[in-house]
Amino acid sequence: MSKYKIALIMSKTVSGFSKLNKLEKIDWLVSTYFNNENSVKQVLMQYWNSNPVLQDLHDDFIENTISNFYLPFGVAPNFVINGKDYTLPMAIEESSVVAAASLVAKFWSTRGGFKAEVISTTKIGQVHFMYEGEKTELQNYFADKKEQLFKVTDAITQNMRKRGGGILDIELRDKTSELENYYQLYVTFETVDSMGANFINSCLEAIANEFEKEDIQIVMSILSNYVPECLVHAEVSCKVEDLYAENSELFAQKFVQAVQIANAEPHRAVTHNKGIMNGIDAVVIATGNDFRAIEAGAHAFAAKSGSYRSLTNANIENGIFKFWIEIPLAVGTVGGLTKLHPLSKLSLKLLGNPSAKELMEIIAVAGLAQNFAALRALTTTGIQKGHMKMHLTNIIKQLGASEEEKEYLINYFENKTITHNAVVEAYNKLVGDN
Ligand code: MEV
Repeated sequence: MSKYKIALIMSKTVSGFSKLNKLEKIDWLVSTYFNNENSVKQVLMQYWNSNPVLQDLHDDFIENTISNFYLPFGVAPNFVINGKDYTLPMAIEESSVVAAASLVAKFWSTRGGFKAEVISTTKIGQVHFMYEGEKTELQNYFADKKEQLFKVTDAITQNMRKRGGGILDIELRDKTSELENYYQLYVTFETVDSMGANFINSCLEAIANEFEKEDIQIVMSILSNYVPECLVHAEVSCKVEDLYAENSELFAQKFVQAVQIANAEPHRAVTHNKGIMNGIDAVVIATGNDFRAIEAGAHAFAAKSGSYRSLTNANIENGIFKFWIEIPLAVGTVGGLTKLHPLSKLSLKLLGNPSAKELMEIIAVAGLAQNFAALRALTTTGIQKGHMKMHLTNIIKQLGASEEEKEYLINYFENKTITHNAVVEAYNKLVGDN
């Protein structure tokens, strides 16, 4: 057989796939990639929701939906934020995150709770363009056009203005020192309770259309996910002696040193901030917000000094331990998936239908709490004790252990090192013995 013929037989490309119905898509997938194994179809279909209306809703979120991918949806009670009680909704697969959030929430609830405050809420969009002419001519053109640039967005911004938002300003920025002939319209927005991505992008495209002319070549118009002016601060504090049961002073000192290390050393800072994002993403996802946008913005903010640093800080002054976070969070409580996904809607209701500002405060607290839990474990018992305890139940489940066997194994590993092999061995011994 010629090479060409083999390539044809082996080809796994397809045209018109998006036009197939869901079952046809699955059939193509199963025959092309899974050797027609019927169990594959069953796995996919067992995750379909039995309510066809609900399934349709999920099918329409994206293109080519063939099933649903579940994430556990948990809650972390006992958060006290600015004197108000909250139970936080969290969607996350990592076993220890919700447990850690709950523990830390309870801990700080008896020490004054969390304080949080939104510092600013400005969002940013840019029209990127190339211009080879005289800079002063461009400046004059922009000055003459500026009012008209606001006018062409009137229809788009009407509702937003009624809610107290809209376009704050449009600036011309000279970027030619970074890239030859490159300029931008730097547009600032207030989007009130919405994250505002669609709103911002629609405004930018209208502005770009109006601004474009022969010698101005628009390259693209898009919001920026770097929002250092959409910033929230959250903190906890207490007397050093109230911080830890044994040798509280040493604990406080090590905790502060752990934060200082993350501030000094990027390898540690990345893991430190990853732990913060464990808490942040879980609430962001549960409330139907865009965790990729939040992640990108948070890490850029962590690197704003020129080297990548911790998003949290801690100090001890006059016998008081203080631990805080400052993080940009562009989130919404209206629009997008927030009210469309039944679980996001429920999550927001659980939080008392907060404004976007209140949600920023809640999410910042979730990040701070998670970092507190991680640093407390790391500087005392080590992280693996708690992690492996949670992991133990997962391994036991994978082994198909009964409730009785599970109880035995949990007791057995109470004071032993948990590894996958050790659990399998103990289980095999147990079933062999029985
Ligand atoms: C694990 O998901 C997160 C931690 O590694 C965070 C940290 O090291 O600070 C425990």
